[in-house]
Amino acid sequence: PPAPAASAPAPAAVKVYAVGTDAAYAPFESQNEKGEIVGFDIEVVQAVAKKAGFEIKIINTPWEGIFNTLAQGDRDLVVSAVTITDERRQTMDFSDAYFDAQQLIAIKDGSKVTKFGDLKKLKVGVQTGTTGMEVVEKLQGKTSPNIKRFESTPLALKELEAGGVDAVVADNGVIINYVTNNPGGKFKSIADKEFVPEQYGIAVKKGNAELLAKINQGLAGIKADGTYDQIFTKYFGAPPAKAAAAPASAASK
Ligand code: ARG
Repeated sequence: PPAPAASAPAPAAVKVYAVGTDAAYAPFESQNEKGEIVGFDIEVVQAVAKKAGFEIKIINTPWEGIFNTLAQGDRDLVVSAVTITDERRQTMDFSDAYFDAQQLIAIKDGSKVTKFGDLKKLKVGVQTGTTGMEVVEKLQGKTSPNIKRFESTPLALKELEAGGVDAVVADNGVIINYVTNNPGGKFKSIADKEFVPEQYGIAVKKGNAELLAKINQGLAGIKADGTYDQIFTKYFGAPPAKAAAAPASAASK
């Protein structure tokens, strides 16, 4: 007869880290038709966890308040195309940088906009609380009525399509993905030298050095063994340019 269940050793409780992500930011994080959360960031954090030997669970989390979930202990990691900034560093800790990014302007094809300065007096859509919002606030002033803030970047882009805003400013990967996936050349994107380089990092609760060390160990591991380049190539068509492998010390803004 089978041994009574009570004689089996209790399995050691494995800590499963909760990963928060605002899954409305393709190709970094989005939901597919089945409702699964997929994307570059998701594959990176899964590979990092595997390499460093910890378990994760991905949880769709609204951008607004996403960083508070770390302080509150509802999420252990935030992986959401988060730009490392000095201001954010005051309230959370970041891993080494894992992606180089920059702001980009999305406009309709017939638009006369050719540079960032042209947006000074136009209606511009941004996602609330992003670095895209910050650059537009710098250009127009925080209280400008022409800054239209949205809860998600797709909502801002919908408004561009509907004609409610003249432009949207967001991360280059997301804008390029949107322009490319809207056939018929309805939209185009514009880069500007005024936009400073940004780098994405994985955020943890301030002071969580133990988890941060594991994440950095995993990141270094997947960069060294080719996994990172594989994921990058899958999403962006070519391996990262050499400059992307710059040391993490360059990861501030
Ligand atoms: N990189 C920008 C920032 O950190 C935008 C990130 C938005 N991410 C998202 N999943 N909605 O502010």
